[in-house]
Amino acid sequence: MKGIVLAGGRATRLRPLTKITSKQLLPVYNKPMIFYPIETLIKAGIKDILIIIAPEYSGHFLNLLGSGKDFGAKFTYEIQEEPRGLADAFIVGENFIGNDSVAMILGDNIFDEDFSQIVANFKSGATVFAKEVSDPQRYGVIEFDENQNVLSIAEKPEQPKSNFAMVGLYVCDNKVSSLARNVQPSARGEIEITDVINQYKDKNELRVEFVKNIWEDAGTFDSLLRVNNYMAEKAKKESEKNE
Ligand code: G1P
Repeated sequence: MKGIVLAGGRATRLRPLTKITSKQLLPVYNKPMIFYPIETLIKAGIKDILIIIAPEYSGHFLNLLGSGKDFGAKFTYEIQEEPRGLADAFIVGENFIGNDSVAMILGDNIFDEDFSQIVANFKSGATVFAKEVSDPQRYGVIEFDENQNVLSIAEKPEQPKSNFAMVGLYVCDNKVSSLARNVQPSARGEIEITDVINQYKDKNELRVEFVKNIWEDAGTFDSLLRVNNYMAEKAKKESEKNE
């Protein structure tokens, strides 16, 4: 399986922090933010990784991450000229994906979780991940019936039908690029990931797994601060354990 880290976008919500740099280069405790999603993929066993970046600070990503050798991985880069939506990652990445399946992770999504079993057992369709949150209207929202079958998935609904966010990690088979091409831009002018995942749902090819440990979309001041504190605490606990 191949991996994609989507680190495009302009992150206007984080201005002025993002006025002269990219969101995914901001620090999360002792590392630039993008290290976390990259390490999540590598820990899951994915070593061939495409990093999609906006043109503005592309040189900084290259200087920081290089070939991937330091991570024991291989990095390829693509420039996303305009932030056209998350589903665009599968179009920009179509040649890179080739005949493989792919795990796409958002460059600002931070996990403390091991996805290696799910990746190793993945065969076809799509697997997405749900996490209970207190502010579901900020996210893609998954509605379940009492047997945990998916009833609906909606992008940032005003009246969320559940408290389960669809987090920014999507494991998809090879159909994903052509399914992304079917998607029309939403009211906010983006091709939405939920419209890709809904096509898998309609084909009965969707699985949902639950995220057990923390998950943050570090795209706001508060979530950025929370995840900084979490990683600082975690590092402290680990160094106490090793003493
Ligand atoms: C995006 C997706 C949304 C998902 C979220 C996870 O939102 O559109 O479905 O729940 O990432 O971080 P955005 O980052 O565009 O606000």
